[in-house]
Amino acid sequence: MKISVICGSSRKQAQSLKVSRFIEKTLADNGLCDETWLFALTGNPLPLWDEAIWDGDPGWKALLDPLSEQLAASDAFVVVSPEWHGQVPSALKNFFLMWGKGELAHKPALIVTVSSADGGAYPVAELRMSSYKNNRICYIPEQIIVRNVESVLNDDPALNDPDADAYFRDRILYALRILREYAAALKKVRETGVTDPGVYKNGM
Ligand SMILES: Cc1cc2nc3c(=O)[nH]c(=O)nc-3n(C[C@H](O)[C@H](O)[C@H](O)COP(=O)(O)O)c2cc1C
Repeated sequence: MKISVICGSSRKQAQSLKVSRFIEKTLADNGLCDETWLFALTGNPLPLWDEAIWDGDPGWKALLDPLSEQLAASDAFVVVSPEWHGQVPSALKNFFLMWGKGELAHKPALIVTVSSADGGAYPVAELRMSSYKNNRICYIPEQIIVRNVESVLNDDPALNDPDADAYFRDRILYALRILREYAAALKKVRETGVTDPGVYKNGM
């Protein structure tokens, strides 16, 4: 089983990247999957979507094909998003425009949002409302909102609020265990063939 972590912050010193790396390590340390892949939108590796993608532009293909392979080989995803101005960063919304050929389809995803204060609810709502229609990613009902992120999940214990840090470490492991079971279950759903993306290319 392969679980991929998508880090939605384009900031170079992003706390979301710290959280993403912690999640990747938690997956590996607890044997929750055979393989992980972390794709970070640090520094905006993806240009803004344009129509040349539809025309098979060689530049876009060279950029996207290796990523498509990684995503298509994944059984589940963790989508990590900071809250920026009460929204999901545009880099992450742009990411979701790229994958409509079944790479993410009918695969479970855990939403993890990140705030330096007590925010984090808005990107959960936004992802659940508007990021899945054509790529058909399946957000599981569990979610993680990492509030006051600077004071948790740091490698240096001196930087952590002990109670909050212990809570988030435990809660993230709990959610990842659930994600793993959804991944096993939804693989069976895909294997039935009823989700064939060739039937209705886009969601309604
Ligand atoms: C452009 C921008 C807008 C932000 N807006 C919010 C916000 O609306 N609510 C919030 O809780 N935090 C906000 N923050 C702070 C983030 O929560 C903080 O940067 C946190 O570390 C997560 O973002 P990061 O992964 O990019 O570091 C904002 C940060 C940036 C860079």
